[in-house]
Amino acid sequence: MSVPETELVIVVDFGGQYSHLIARRIREHNVFCEMLPYNTPLEEIKNKKPRGLIFSGGPSSVYKDGAPRIDPAVYDLRIPILGICYGMHLMAFQLQGQVSGAQLDESGRTEIEIIDGSGLLGCMEEKDLCWMSHGDRVEAPPPGFKVLARTAKTPVAAMAAPERGLYALQFHPEVVHTPKGQEILRHFLFAICGCTGSWTMSSFVEQTVAEIRARVGNRRALCALSGGVDSSVSAVLVHRAIGDQLTCVFVNHGLLRKDEAETVQAVFRDQFNINLVYVDAAQRFLDKLRGVTDPERKRKIIGEEFIRVFEEEAAKVGERDYLVQGTIYPDVVESGTATAAVIKSHHNVGGLPENMRLSLIEPLRWLFKDEVRRVGEELGMPAQIVWRQPFPGPGLAVRILGEVTAEKVDLLQRADAIVTGEIAKAGLDREIWQYFAILPGLYSVGVMGDERTYAHTVGIRAVHSHDGMTADWAKIPYDVLERISSRIVSENKEINRVVYDITSKPPATIEWE
Ligand code: XMP
Repeated sequence: MSVPETELVIVVDFGGQYSHLIARRIREHNVFCEMLPYNTPLEEIKNKKPRGLIFSGGPSSVYKDGAPRIDPAVYDLRIPILGICYGMHLMAFQLQGQVSGAQLDESGRTEIEIIDGSGLLGCMEEKDLCWMSHGDRVEAPPPGFKVLARTAKTPVAAMAAPERGLYALQFHPEVVHTPKGQEILRHFLFAICGCTGSWTMSSFVEQTVAEIRARVGNRRALCALSGGVDSSVSAVLVHRAIGDQLTCVFVNHGLLRKDEAETVQAVFRDQFNINLVYVDAAQRFLDKLRGVTDPERKRKIIGEEFIRVFEEEAAKVGERDYLVQGTIYPDVVESGTATAAVIKSHHNVGGLPENMRLSLIEPLRWLFKDEVRRVGEELGMPAQIVWRQPFPGPGLAVRILGEVTAEKVDLLQRADAIVTGEIAKAGLDREIWQYFAILPGLYSVGVMGDERTYAHTVGIRAVHSHDGMTADWAKIPYDVLERISSRIVSENKEINRVVYDITSKPPATIEWE
């Protein structure tokens, strides 16, 4: 899919921890924004006709060997540029200002004094607050620049050469700890770059639908629907464009949560009238998993079997030209950055055969997750799909420790439905990243009436996270935990004990396997 046809701002990424955040903040102003690595050829940047460029921060010092640089011709393109932190150091350095590698370490909420509040910093009070996080600093701005602000430790906290459209901030306007940050970005986007804020989710839907329609013509597309947010929104979007020329295949591997398979069918077949091939392959997966206890083997078996089932079903559907995939922007930006060590092989179930040789339709490849959810809402999709919590491809198989059996799946589904139901009832479902039950395969002694019991333990896991890479265990109120626990044991005689996992990631992982 091509970049949306709209006013564009490019974040040139120098590797800063907040680069994504800058992009998201810009989009909150209804301005479309793309992130490109700093070594993108200038010609490519120019051809995209951006209204403005933002240079992100970065971990490096301009004086380090191999520090990321940009072609200095960028300053003469007559495209407004806002440099942030490292982006500012680089601008100062390349335009003959003075940068010190003093490793000053000014960080955190910092008082800033505005020297020139006539333009970019017009929204700030004479003494205001900003968020600093830097080692180097600009000692003197390049010729032709004026100093807009300073702090106790930083003589040039903001600088500008307005007639050249060049601006730079030492502090981070994109983080919430700079209270006027959004207003500063807004000034840059609207007053300096001339954006109008025309990029909305409804304009995105309209434009994407038109584009898919034009591209596909009367050909046909196939979509592997997992029930997750991304593939679901992709399917509904593509269906809006090409209707019955789209067929979705939903493989139920039998390791889904309670009622999930039914919900998917009700939404896609009944509500949206989408051609849906529903495949109940539960027994097939259980057979393959019999006797298997190693987590990685489980993942591998499920992943491979999924591809096999999908291929068989795709063959029955007949000749197709396009494959719809729910790739989203973080997948695009992050692909290529190698992760350090494989802790778990996250081959996504829904990861599809590479040899299908279909052209890809990836209608969400420009969107962040929250934007995908807004598109889902725009398309009238139900909250239970749009706000679905992340769920691992191998499903409950990685929440049942040891061998997976039909009885254990059924038991875990029932316990899990209580956890999710009570969390939702307590209004915590959009606040907590993931919350679910685990069946560790542990038996312990209990007492029921006058009888001794020897039954399953169920674990509860609930974590806060932004991206699944790190996570904090959620401090769920005791009364909610109590309701969950007493319902699990009173409604399931096979369970006599409930424990709560109070480990964060690291050192634990979110899933137990
Ligand atoms: P961990 O357990 O590694 O999980 O802390 C991080 C995030 O990834 C999800 N997860 C998976 N997703 N296939 C997936 O598609 C997998 O095999 C898999 N294992 C874990 C997990 O639910 C969490 O959101």
